[in-house]
Amino acid sequence: MSSVHPRLKTRICELFGVDYPIVQTGMGWVSSSKLTAATSASGGIGFLATATQTFPEMKQSVAEIRELTGNPFGINVRTDSPDINERLDWAIKVGIKVVSFAQAPRPEMVKKLKDSGVVTIPTIAARRHAEKVAEWGVDAVIAQGSEGGGHTGEVPTAVLIPQVTEAIDIPVLAAGGITNGKGLVASLAWGAEGIAMGTRFLLSEESDVPASVKQAYFDAVVTDTIRTRSIDGVPQRVINTKLIRDLETAKLSRLPRAVRNALKFRRLTQTTFSDLAREAFAMKKNQELTWAQVALAANAPMLTKATMVEGNHDIGIMPTGVGLGVIESAPPVAEIVRSIILEASDILNGLTCPVD
Ligand SMILES: Cc1cc2nc3c(=O)[nH]c(=O)nc-3n(C[C@H](O)[C@H](O)[C@H](O)COP(=O)(O)O)c2cc1C
Repeated sequence: MSSVHPRLKTRICELFGVDYPIVQTGMGWVSSSKLTAATSASGGIGFLATATQTFPEMKQSVAEIRELTGNPFGINVRTDSPDINERLDWAIKVGIKVVSFAQAPRPEMVKKLKDSGVVTIPTIAARRHAEKVAEWGVDAVIAQGSEGGGHTGEVPTAVLIPQVTEAIDIPVLAAGGITNGKGLVASLAWGAEGIAMGTRFLLSEESDVPASVKQAYFDAVVTDTIRTRSIDGVPQRVINTKLIRDLETAKLSRLPRAVRNALKFRRLTQTTFSDLAREAFAMKKNQELTWAQVALAANAPMLTKATMVEGNHDIGIMPTGVGLGVIESAPPVAEIVRSIILEASDILNGLTCPVD
């Protein structure tokens, strides 16, 4: 691409071995091999969502990505998967370049990956978390402001990013409501070295989210999202649908069905019943949820799948960042990346004082 501003070549490009400091994050049920490969092929870097995949599905998707592109890509893992150690060993063995985490990683996971030359990049939502994972030796962080999609913290992006970049020396990727080149330049101004986006890539041509669901995202405006604890006890940003409003007002407690679906998800991810029960008890204790809420929490991945894969947006859950309100179409990923880089370069050129 011509006329890329030199400020867009950051430590992130070097760390990941990519042309542009643009990350497509891991999104459960959404970041498929196709989407991940398309982002990596475009010069950014894609992350495969493996938190909602079985181990064999994850292996298959990695093989598919490698058929589609020779460029670096990453995988996003669920750190509480019962088979997480086998998955990480396999990732090391097959030379996965980067690993990101769906929840906080444990220090021993970071060490194991780092010792084997795998780049580690957790997502954090507060300065103290950034400082903690930096001490563990992670290579970079995604700092996600509360505007971001899926599970998200409470500090707004414009406050969080400068706080984090001042606190740690490793590269920071800014996330949360970012969709375009203006967001990239703002992130650089806040001290970040690139951007990580979910919602922008969810609404792309290569995203297999059903057209009717994409339309629901296009129809929503910036204020149509909500950060809610009602789904699984942990704050999550989603489109504020009738289901969510009912959950918020506790009108919904279809407990038996929720339990059935929770068990189905556990089978899919090969979690044993004892692990499921242990997780449920821990969730109840740590987050002070009722049993109905615990069942709904375990049910959330199936409800999300019903929407994001099967297209049932009446009953489902639609995780999103607030950026959905400014996204109007789903172009090919290469076009998204190209337009962000060109827009950011134009702005950066305009910001430079002309010399007489
Ligand atoms: C549909 C959806 C699913 C997500 N699933 C995951 C996931 O499995 N693992 C993860 O680490 N983050 C997940 N996230 C969070 C994103 O990876 C990313 O951090 C977030 O979307 C960034 O904010 P943005 O959407 O405003 O760009 C998800 C987000 C969305 C929108």
